[in-house]
Amino acid sequence: MDLRAAFLEGMSRAATFVAVATTDGPGGRAGVTISSLTSVSADGEQPSLLACIHHLSPAATAILKNRAFCANLLAEDQQPLSDLFAGRGGDDHGARFDRADWQAGPMGQPMLAGATATFECRLATAMLWETHHIIVGRVTQMVLADNPHALLYGQRAYRRAVGLEPKG
Ligand SMILES: Cc1cc2nc3c(=O)[nH]c(=O)nc-3n(C[C@H](O)[C@H](O)[C@H](O)COP(=O)(O)O)c2cc1C
Repeated sequence: MDLRAAFLEGMSRAATFVAVATTDGPGGRAGVTISSLTSVSADGEQPSLLACIHHLSPAATAILKNRAFCANLLAEDQQPLSDLFAGRGGDDHGARFDRADWQAGPMGQPMLAGATATFECRLATAMLWETHHIIVGRVTQMVLADNPHALLYGQRAYRRAVGLEPKG
């Protein structure tokens, strides 16, 4: 196996939660499914997070122009929304929002209904690393749903977290 294939296989074993990064403003309305949502700090001026988005994704271009975005952490029953925003249904970025239930947050960023947690962010900084923009946002608004169960993705399939019995 070459290094790239081994890297992809290794990373497929790192089950992650699934989020949709959405944005709206002068740069257009766009949204893309991401597994790269990562907490950076809870203790800065405001909490911050990052996402890595391919430079050819219209969502990355729109986020950089709008200087704001929303990270919508999907709930366990939202696989269809993940597929929709991954472009698996063939819908373009504008049409994806016609098929989703959402409303604008205080900064005008699209918050998807049913997401287990929604983080509305102001763009803090971004860096183009080879193929991906590393986008850092300061969280300005949070919405938490009653359902705390996040959708997971690992080994190229959707999954759910299952609690383990203590060992030993
Ligand atoms: C579970 C899952 C996680 C993904 N994570 C990312 C990611 O972190 N960053 C990224 O750029 N694309 C990610 N993608 C791919 C994008 O969702 C999308 O398919 C790709 O950007 C092409 O669509 P677009 O050109 O409409 O943006 C992921 C797809 C899936 C299904």
